[in-house]
Amino acid sequence: MPIPATQYIWFNGKLVHWEKATVHVLSHALHYGSSVFEGLRAYETPRGVAIFRLQDHTRRLFDSAKIYRINMPVTPEQVNDACRQVIAANGLTRGAYIRPVVFKGYGEIGVCPKNEPPTDVAVAAWEWGRYLGHDSESAGVDVCISSWNRVAPNTLPALAKAAGNYLSSQLIGGEAKRLGFAEGIGLSIDGNLSEGSGENLFLVKDGVLLTPALAHSVLGGLTRDTVMRLARERGIEVRECAIPRELLYIADEAFFTGTAVELTPINSVDRLTVGTGKPGPITESLQTAFYGLFNGDTPDKWGWLDYVDMAAALRVAASG
Ligand SMILES: Cc1ncc(COP(=O)(O)O)c(C=O)c1O
Repeated sequence: MPIPATQYIWFNGKLVHWEKATVHVLSHALHYGSSVFEGLRAYETPRGVAIFRLQDHTRRLFDSAKIYRINMPVTPEQVNDACRQVIAANGLTRGAYIRPVVFKGYGEIGVCPKNEPPTDVAVAAWEWGRYLGHDSESAGVDVCISSWNRVAPNTLPALAKAAGNYLSSQLIGGEAKRLGFAEGIGLSIDGNLSEGSGENLFLVKDGVLLTPALAHSVLGGLTRDTVMRLARERGIEVRECAIPRELLYIADEAFFTGTAVELTPINSVDRLTVGTGKPGPITESLQTAFYGLFNGDTPDKWGWLDYVDMAAALRVAASG
């Protein structure tokens, strides 16, 4: 989908015009994949626009950089501020998708050069709709198991949200789309379920909510964590475990979670209907609880909503 341009991008400490946020073609990340990033959503709420789980996303960004030993030239608070600034400076009061990216920039060539190239940091934001199609979250999607496995443990670390991991995602998601499915699911190297190309996977069997454990090459999704907490609060048993592929075929319900897809029901897998082939009752109750965080129906007792003080964010931008 085309990116709906906004006015400003935060780039290495200050807001620059969208079209000026450019990099050199010899940047290290472009050649060797040395980039880590995040994807967040800001929502319009009754108390104004709020960024969902901002601190947790920033922590994961720093964790990803730590795994790859990428020097961080900024503090977590600077990244948080940058996220608030791109919302305020671009007037994104109706909510937005926010993309922080940290990458090895221009200055050295070679996979592991003697001197580290400088680290560049950028944060952009724009209005973004449904990732898997406009009615995907209400109607559900048809998906397949990919012929490509997810990255194996101790090859590319799945817990790091690194650009290189998305080569695996492109193989999985691209194959699925060429075959006419909305999304593909990768298996882990041992043949158990792992995750979608850009989302975590859940299924419901006999009233229990199951999701692949972190050891099965999944990203530790913040929506995954949110949904597990909301489910446990509602008395639903949740298990993080190894899940054989065929359990998905005979599940009562299944759904994806992720910042982009939010909570998207799965209607069929490999052309086999899951449950009734429509979003199931547990999926729908968790959707209601999840979206309730943003319309005020679900109390935010965890402090997950970071309300953007537009005037304060603009003051910080002006002083930076
Ligand atoms: C591979 C992959 N798995 C899972 C997720 C879901 O993570 P989150 O809920 O933190 O967005 C994402 C999205 O970032 C992803 O790219």
